[in-house]
Amino acid sequence: MPGKAFYVTTPIYYVNDAPHIGTAYTTVLADVIARYRRALGDDVWFLTGTDEHGQKAAEAAEKRGLTPRAHCDELSQRFRDTWAPLQISYDVFIRTTEPRHLRVVQAVLDDLWKRGEIYRGTYEGWYHVSDEIFVTEKEIEEKAIDRSKLRRISEDNYFFRMGRQRDAIREAVVSGRLEIRPASRRNEVLGFLEKDLGDLCISRPKSRLSWGVELPFDRDYVTYVWFDALLNYVTGAGYLQDDATFARTWPADVHLMGKDILTTHSVYWPAMLLAAGIPLPRRILAHGWWLVGGTKMSKSIGNVVDPLSYATKFGVDALRWYLVREMVVGQDAEFSDERFRARYDGDLGNEWGNLLSRAVNMIGRFGGGKVPSPALEHGGPSEPRTAAAALLDTLPGLVDDVALHRVGEAAMDLLRAGNRHVDLTQPWKAAKDPAKGSVVADALYTIAETVRVASEVLRPILPTKATDALAQLGVTPSGDLRAALRWGGLVPGTAVVPGPVLFPRVDPPAR
Ligand code: MSP
Repeated sequence: MPGKAFYVTTPIYYVNDAPHIGTAYTTVLADVIARYRRALGDDVWFLTGTDEHGQKAAEAAEKRGLTPRAHCDELSQRFRDTWAPLQISYDVFIRTTEPRHLRVVQAVLDDLWKRGEIYRGTYEGWYHVSDEIFVTEKEIEEKAIDRSKLRRISEDNYFFRMGRQRDAIREAVVSGRLEIRPASRRNEVLGFLEKDLGDLCISRPKSRLSWGVELPFDRDYVTYVWFDALLNYVTGAGYLQDDATFARTWPADVHLMGKDILTTHSVYWPAMLLAAGIPLPRRILAHGWWLVGGTKMSKSIGNVVDPLSYATKFGVDALRWYLVREMVVGQDAEFSDERFRARYDGDLGNEWGNLLSRAVNMIGRFGGGKVPSPALEHGGPSEPRTAAAALLDTLPGLVDDVALHRVGEAAMDLLRAGNRHVDLTQPWKAAKDPAKGSVVADALYTIAETVRVASEVLRPILPTKATDALAQLGVTPSGDLRAALRWGGLVPGTAVVPGPVLFPRVDPPAR
């Protein structure tokens, strides 16, 4: 019986918008988690995809004079085309318009209907005529919507009995069976669950919106957006299609998302699963927002950063590094050119690239181009060696905790210790004294080993650059991170392969 795979998901993205730094962030974060898990020996199931039904997609298509399907095909492809160069190693790219997903949604709807978890009722509310959407009192206030555009409407629709799941959801959150992170978000959800949970309107009459999934028990209606979208996580895990895959993958180990869609994931989704008799996911993790000049990056404000422009200019790995290192998972972070350059020049250039070129150059000059045989075992005790041992101990816990910024920082600490070791031992001075051959050998071994271990640690975050760095040391990356982190892995006699500067200078923008 194969074990349980580690199942990680991103939200599935709306196709009314192109990929940007916000969506790229969650996707890179999921990818880095997936790569660490694989390197630590887990079987991984990594899902991302696109959320294609509903009013917004239909309108975006109409504006472009396309059918919804043609529009969705194109935009969904645009996401795939962005994720490929960003090195996103997903196992499943799901689209909510796939026939297999329609079958899952309809099967769940049918089951809930037959068991009385869905009922027909009257939806009462304000309807925005030109926008074709229902709006709540709260939205009218907040967005200062012109009341002359609103009409009071009463319309028959279908409702999911979400309210009856409240106590069960609360129990799951309180007991930790459904973990919500960070703790501040968990409290927010528990606060929300204090109040009565209403039932959820899950349908629209086809006469108003046809771009959705037809209700199996009433062909005049479709379901759309959340009820349809959330189920992607089980469709993509093989639910009602492939029992062996579903048993291997479900429940999800972590659903990643931005804090704006926390409630749908930690209230609607568990309610749906509880009603359908499907086990709950283990963890929900909400990250913060990327801000530009202190405000959320968003299309309507017009401060959106295109992920590929940074990848083109600084390299894909540098972008992945910035996203992972700069944002403390759970908090907001500022995306700025200045901060980006500081991380690029500081962390990547001055610490990593610098230590690599120092190691390779000195081995060339004082070691005949081969990793020297150290006099003391593995180069003897040193600050980097102690730092590497500590890293090996803490890494699995940090990965479990999704504290990836701390993993990145620990790798930088190790590199900083390596650069200090160069300054401390000054091998170029010792090399002048024939009696100090063993001092030089120990120093060079320690420095090269530091770069090797740090590059292995960084590989899930910067897969290409880490592989390049290891290649300069004459090393093929290891598939087993724990083994790779053990000090002493570098084999004396290995020929180094001097290569280009790892992070070349990128000129600042012309003013
Ligand atoms: N389609 C829904 C999700 C359905 S999941 C069953 C959706 N899509 S979205 O395309 O609008 O947003 C996807 C994600 O991008 C959300 O997690 C959101 O938090 C994230 N971000 C959008 N802008 C963001 C920032 N400026 N910063 C960080 N993440 C942001 O919601």
